[in-house]
Amino acid sequence: SKNIVILISGGGSNMAAIVNAAHQQRWHEVCGARVAAVISNKPDAKGLDFARSRRIATDVVDHKGFSSREAFDAALMQRIDGHDPDGHPALVVLAGFMRILTPGFVQHYAGRLVNIHPSLLPAFTGLNTHQRAIDAGCRFAGATVHRVTSELDDGDILEQAVVPVLPHDTAESLAARVLTQEHLIYPRAVRRLLCV
Ligand code: GAR
Repeated sequence: SKNIVILISGGGSNMAAIVNAAHQQRWHEVCGARVAAVISNKPDAKGLDFARSRRIATDVVDHKGFSSREAFDAALMQRIDGHDPDGHPALVVLAGFMRILTPGFVQHYAGRLVNIHPSLLPAFTGLNTHQRAIDAGCRFAGATVHRVTSELDDGDILEQAVVPVLPHDTAESLAARVLTQEHLIYPRAVRRLLCV
């Protein structure tokens, strides 16, 4: 079967959207794809509770226990690959995973690594995307699912969604509008990659 490993750092709502879509659309029967594990770099990430409630294997690789990015990424890779019988999961999905990954990690998962970013890339890479879109006077904002390269928020675009920026938007209200769309485009992108 095609094992999906999802990496989170927090609430995990995108991870939950993928888990729910996989269940509702019967990905495992349709194309052999399944969410094999959810891994967090934060021991208290709320998303871990959701994954456990769905009886999905969970793991924590706490970045605080490592003295270098390379050491953390090496441990993370070992844990990710351990969730596939062949040591080669079909897809590694970054879903609100707030760590920058080393070129070695990205190379190891070349062609099998995707991310979601809360802006219309290539605009607004990095953090605070919603406040920056508001400050720039953007009429539209959105989210992007993309392949991951060793450049931050770079790589081929797989899916995008657009939302309006409304006159009285705050970063929070805009983020909520964008997040609703993220929950549609991320499962769609994963399904298109694994179930074509
Ligand atoms: C999402 O909006 C995602 O696009 C963003 O963090 C949020 C995670 O929410 N990711 C980044 O900013 C990546 N740099 P979630 O944990 O509920 O899926």
